[in-house]
Formats: sequence, structure tokens, C-alpha cells
Amino acid sequence: MHENLHVIDHPLVQHKLSLMRKKSTSTHNFRTLIREVGTLLAYEVTKDLPLIYQEIETPLMKMDAPFLEGKKLCLVSILRAGNGLLDGFMDLVPSARVGHIGLYRDPETLVAVEYYMKLPDLINQRLVLALDPMLATGHSSAAAVTRLKENGAENIRFVSLLSAPEGIEYFSKAHPDVPIYTAAVDEKLNEHAYILPGLGDAGDRIFGTK
Ligand code: URA
Repeated sequence: MHENLHVIDHPLVQHKLSLMRKKSTSTHNFRTLIREVGTLLAYEVTKDLPLIYQEIETPLMKMDAPFLEGKKLCLVSILRAGNGLLDGFMDLVPSARVGHIGLYRDPETLVAVEYYMKLPDLINQRLVLALDPMLATGHSSAAAVTRLKENGAENIRFVSLLSAPEGIEYFSKAHPDVPIYTAAVDEKLNEHAYILPGLGDAGDRIFGTK
């Protein structure tokens, strides 16, 4: 077990994930479930955020009350399946700033090529939560995190729903400083780099394509 790997085994997360894995689960239900799981993951991933104390007045008296320290969080959706998790994260952290990164795999070179990127300002001062439901080979996730670092991000956490051991290995070698939060570590990848047993193509299942 990697020291940087956090498996979120909360029973509600596990139950919802099992429903998502079922091939009979409809697009509508899948989308609802990934949003709900996103919220639960967001709760777990943010549970050690630093607080500062500021004086407020309740209707009865003054007190030093805890507030989140520092700049607003930055959520980054790794397109397109990251958008499924993003909804649940935004439900819980509505004032977060949001970035998007789109990458595709060049079929000849197999190198991840960026086709879209838009990030909020002052990313170096924010905790950045990079969202991609499937950590499969880890190549595109690692490439996305490299781009975040090149753009100044210093404090990054990577969040996935399902991970393959191969992806965890690859990603944590490329970014030993970036903790991985995931709801489950599955068995392996198949020859097409799908996670087994997995849940299929996350993007297709969220958006009803295919
Ligand atoms: N991406 C997916 O959507 N599913 C997998 O199983 C692997 C990568």
C-alpha cells in the first residue's frame, strides 16, 4: 500500500459505487450517483484543511470561530469524465474556483496531447483538487498534473473513483508529492486499458454516449 494512497471506504461510497458498476444502471441514475459520490469524496478529501480563527458575534456573545484558511480551493476537472465528479464537489464547496484540462492520447506516439486548458488565477496559492474518475494507466492523469505544476500549482491532491494498481504505480512514481484519494483499487487493466472489474467507460456512462 502506497503511503500516498487514501482509500475512502465509507459504506455509503461503497454502496453507491457498486450501483454504478452494474451495467443495468441507467445513465440518469449513474449521473445522480457520481454526483452523490463526488460530494462524499469531497467531504473526505477536505477533512484536514487548515482553519483560522476570527472573531464573530453570535446573537448572544462574541467568540473566536473557525473558518477555512487561505484562498478558495481550486477544483480541476480532467475532461470529460472529471465533470461527473465536479458537480458533487461544487455542491459541497460552492465557492471553489474551477479549472478544466482536456488531453487526448496521440494514437501514433501514445503521448498525452493537451487540447484545452483554462485555470483560475493564483493557482500557486490554492489547494488544487484534480478530478478524474478513472485512474487506469495513469498516463493522462499524470500528464494533467504535470501541466498543473507547470502552471504554478504547488499543493495538489488527485481524486479518482476507481483506480488500477498499474495507474497508482505510474502516477505515484511521476508525482510522489501528490496524494491519491480513491474509493476503490480494482484488480487490473485489460488489454484495452479498461479497469477490471471497473464500471466501463466513465465518460460514456455519465453522458450516455456510445
Ligand atoms: N477510463 C474509463 O472510463 N474506464 C476505464 O475502465 C479506464 C479508463
